[in-house]
Amino acid sequence: MSAPICIFTEEQFPHMRRAGALAGEILHLVGEKVRPGVTLLELDTFAEEWIRDQGATPTFKGYMGFPSTLCTSVNENIVHGIPTDRELKEGDLVSIDVGVTVTEDFNGKPFTYVGDNAFTFPCGEISPKSKRLLKATNAALWAGLEVIQAGKHISDIAAAIEAVAKEYRFGNVKEFGGHGIGPSYHCQPFIPNFLEYFNHFPDDEIKIGMVLAIEPMLNIGGSAIKKHKDGWTIMTADRKNSAHFEHSALITFSGVEIITDVKKTKNIFHHFDE
Ligand code: MF3
Ligand code: CO
Ligand code: CO
Repeated sequence: MSAPICIFTEEQFPHMRRAGALAGEILHLVGEKVRPGVTLLELDTFAEEWIRDQGATPTFKGYMGFPSTLCTSVNENIVHGIPTDRELKEGDLVSIDVGVTVTEDFNGKPFTYVGDNAFTFPCGEISPKSKRLLKATNAALWAGLEVIQAGKHISDIAAAIEAVAKEYRFGNVKEFGGHGIGPSYHCQPFIPNFLEYFNHFPDDEIKIGMVLAIEPMLNIGGSAIKKHKDGWTIMTADRKNSAHFEHSALITFSGVEIITDVKKTKNIFHHFDE
């Protein structure tokens, strides 16, 4: 890849941690509001106000023209859904993706730090198939995160995620994936969730100072996607349900920190353990 890979210095790590913590916290708070009758716009307004109250900025609002704070992608919608006045109903799968930008004055220089994370929340009681989808996609995310280590390669992450998708026999979205995070938010390297990508593109080494957003998207049906006529929302071509989970990982000298992991969002899976 020709575009540069962004590397943060140790002095910048605390600012990255704050951006990650805020992104993790607001995702958790939005998740608590997911219930039948709530509209996606209500969630978006709440998130934007909360983020601004912390003196931070919603990363996505205005990014490449995206109009909102949250990406809200319900059921067959995979990612990049625009919050509308749609009311949530019992049984919905509600993917919420949120980025938080923190601007710090570092040695007199303004710099931008971003935390990016997503979680697919069940609205009320969901079907057994949907539960299995959430469990698999979350497992794929954690499989990817667990292999991250300085000296390994991006393809190690892709392989770990793809293995989980195959184990569950779910469709694995190919057109989107994880990414480095830098001052302009999305940064090299792109992190595909499948290995075949590396037959065509180079494989980068994981280095200390990188922040990597890992984000598998799995579908109950096939992996094919379609773009909605709103120009943003990505949905499954067969209209079957999809799920999306994401965390941001900071590679430090002493190991990997999942900077968006507030622990709380994980607790929901206690309900799914057989
Ligand atoms: N949050 C997505 C990601 O995780 C990207 C959203 S871009 C937006 O990479 F413009 F739709 F907000
Ligand atoms: Co995201
Ligand atoms: Co991302």
